[in-house]
Amino acid sequence: MRKLGVAVIGTGFWGKNHARIYKELPSTELVAICDVNPERAKAIADQYGVKAYTSSGQMLKNKEVEAISICTWSTVLAKEALKGLRAGKHVLVEKPMATNTKEAEKLCATAEQNDLVLTVGFLMRFIPGLQVIREAVEKKRIGELVCATAKRVSQWPERIGDVGVVKDMAIHDIDVMRFISQQDPVTVYAKMGSMKHRKFEDYAHIMLTYQNGESAFIESNWLTPYKTRTLTVTGSDAIMRLDYITQDMWIEQQKETLQPRYPFQEPLKCELEHFAQCVLEKKKPLITGEDGVKALQIAEAAMRSSAKNRAINVKN
Ligand SMILES: NC(=O)c1ccc[n+]([C@@H]2O[C@H](COP(=O)([O-])OP(=O)(O)OC[C@H]3O[C@@H](n4cnc5c(N)ncnc54)[C@H](O)[C@@H]3O)[C@@H](O)[C@H]2O)c1
Repeated sequence: MRKLGVAVIGTGFWGKNHARIYKELPSTELVAICDVNPERAKAIADQYGVKAYTSSGQMLKNKEVEAISICTWSTVLAKEALKGLRAGKHVLVEKPMATNTKEAEKLCATAEQNDLVLTVGFLMRFIPGLQVIREAVEKKRIGELVCATAKRVSQWPERIGDVGVVKDMAIHDIDVMRFISQQDPVTVYAKMGSMKHRKFEDYAHIMLTYQNGESAFIESNWLTPYKTRTLTVTGSDAIMRLDYITQDMWIEQQKETLQPRYPFQEPLKCELEHFAQCVLEKKKPLITGEDGVKALQIAEAAMRSSAKNRAINVKN
């Protein structure tokens, strides 16, 4: 099997995991890494025996690099992704993809014009239990969908200084709600604020309502001393619950609670393997650039809602 030549731009907390997995996957060949921090670039490159760059412009000239993961600070993701696409590379850009929908739309248009794969790092979709929930909702195995509630809370990781909790954390759940319901909300109402963070919101409560009366509620904060990442989906006949951390899943019905077991999977490994397969086999990725645009649109509507203290209609 041909191996896809890949590189990682931004090898901090998260990018070094991309580098490790690309090194391990049979379908990819890690060719280079790039970080503006020269010591970090050298350390990761030495660890994997690949070339280190501190300038992505230089790295993108390397013809062995066919596809890239962009794992820089959130406010730089779109700029680096655009450079990559313009250099003819397939791109996996980490969430939140861009700082605004306009930048995100530009990435989609550039990928399309150049016939390149563009995907976004909405990692939750690669957790097996979430895929089971999505299918159960679609096939109405839990009856009619009534509502979904997501909780994503922990302490503020101080290295995240360029976006707030909505674009850093709640955006995962915004995407999850789109994934399981297979539709976009019609209105968004949110309350958010800052208790500890100097520049951005560090707590947010977001309510989404849908065409047929379903609703979703997302609680995100950087104020909780422990880490919780859960999803509860209520149907008219049963409730499904997922713990993203342990990957445990429960189906609760009137008479019994079932806990089907699925082998634990490292979601990032599944995500990067899928990205490589999409490039090698010229397939559409599970998560498209448009999914990234939609999630950002909803996140921006939530921010406007909180600022204006009213529900905001989402353009579909
Ligand atoms: N999908 C997920 O579950 C998930 C999890 C964690 C982080 N992330 C995303 O990954 C990204 C990185 O997060 P992190 O926690 O690793 O941050 P980090 O601060 O630890 O790492 C960012 C790295 O990018 C480098 N960098 C910044 N601008 C650069 C540029 N123009 N070119 C090359 N290198 C550059 C920095 O020097 C740093 O090493 C963020 O966008 C974050 O939202 C996603």
